[in-house]
Amino acid sequence: MKRARIISTGRYVPEKIVTNDEMTRLVPTSNEWIRERTGILQRHFVDREIGVSDLGYEAAKIALQRAALKPSDIDFIIFATLSPDYMFPGSGCPLQALLGVPGIGALDVRTQCTGFVYGLAVANAFIAAGQYKRILLVGAEVHSTGLEFTERGRHIAVLFGDGAGAAVIEASENGRGVLSTHLHADGRHVKDLWAENPGSRRIPRMYPGILEDGSCYPQMNGREVFKHAVTKFPEVIMEALKANDLSLDDVKLVIPHQANLRISEAVTQRLGLPPEKVFNNIQRYGNTTAASIPIALDEALEMGKIQEGDLVVLASFGSGFTWASAAIRW
Ligand code: COA
Repeated sequence: MKRARIISTGRYVPEKIVTNDEMTRLVPTSNEWIRERTGILQRHFVDREIGVSDLGYEAAKIALQRAALKPSDIDFIIFATLSPDYMFPGSGCPLQALLGVPGIGALDVRTQCTGFVYGLAVANAFIAAGQYKRILLVGAEVHSTGLEFTERGRHIAVLFGDGAGAAVIEASENGRGVLSTHLHADGRHVKDLWAENPGSRRIPRMYPGILEDGSCYPQMNGREVFKHAVTKFPEVIMEALKANDLSLDDVKLVIPHQANLRISEAVTQRLGLPPEKVFNNIQRYGNTTAASIPIALDEALEMGKIQEGDLVVLASFGSGFTWASAAIRW
């Protein structure tokens, strides 16, 4: 049986660091408020006009180099983002042009925080079906250009950061790789975490006042998100383990989407996992949405936290609501 195996990863974040103290110059907030409620100490913001495809390209170059591959060795591109370079086309296309591989397919995944796990599920299905042998999966976001730096937007502006992560995925037949993926959504919660405009259901789509009414900025019902996240994360992690007849004792590392350190801590506690089994780096990056899992995975690998044969569980929850997990035999 063919499975998708992540053979290499890469990450890239813009150079500019915005500490919580620096954030106080952008919105009325404090280092204490941000740290206590989210665990975030700093995030990276772009400092010039640069797209998610550019960030994704930098991460992809590192992942390809580590796998000793050229862009032409890739059969297909999957790009997960909620902040694409353009309204259309998706960011997979500009990334493909940057890589210089015209002709291969490029698919954008629009499931926000769960984009990397959904993308991994798509890659796994293509590989299991024999359609592609080697897929480049990228998760990238430029949030900073779309946040509302006012008192109205401060509860969201302090959470998010820019960055990209990439993975080269190959067909494997030796039992290593993705064991299973589990994808969920509940569209009743669309409005609990969303950016309404410009949306195609409004006539006309663009209108004067779109900035003043705030509908082009992300809107979030933070408490609702928190409440569902601390339930769905444990549920979907256990679902991945049960599907493979495994238990929490078998897990080497859980890599959760970096939504909020308090969410990760609550999930760790609910599952009764030792803290060292749950990877957290939101302190240094903020919430980078589709990029958070591949950035975390890349760091965990660099730190030697994952070895061949280890069981790794990726898990995510976010806008949609969507939630998802993947069990991986490394
Ligand atoms: N700095 C300082 N004060 C702030 C602030 C900021 N950045 N943002 C909001 N506040 C204030 C509010 O105005 C409010 O003041 P009031 O009590 O005088 O009215 C107070 O802090 C509490 O605001 P509230 O929005 O109710 O905070 P909260 O306790 O729900 O915490 C979050 C806000 C965002 C930290 C929390 O809801 C959360 O973590 N939710 C999950 C978010 C998440 O993970 N999203 C990404 C999912 S992928």
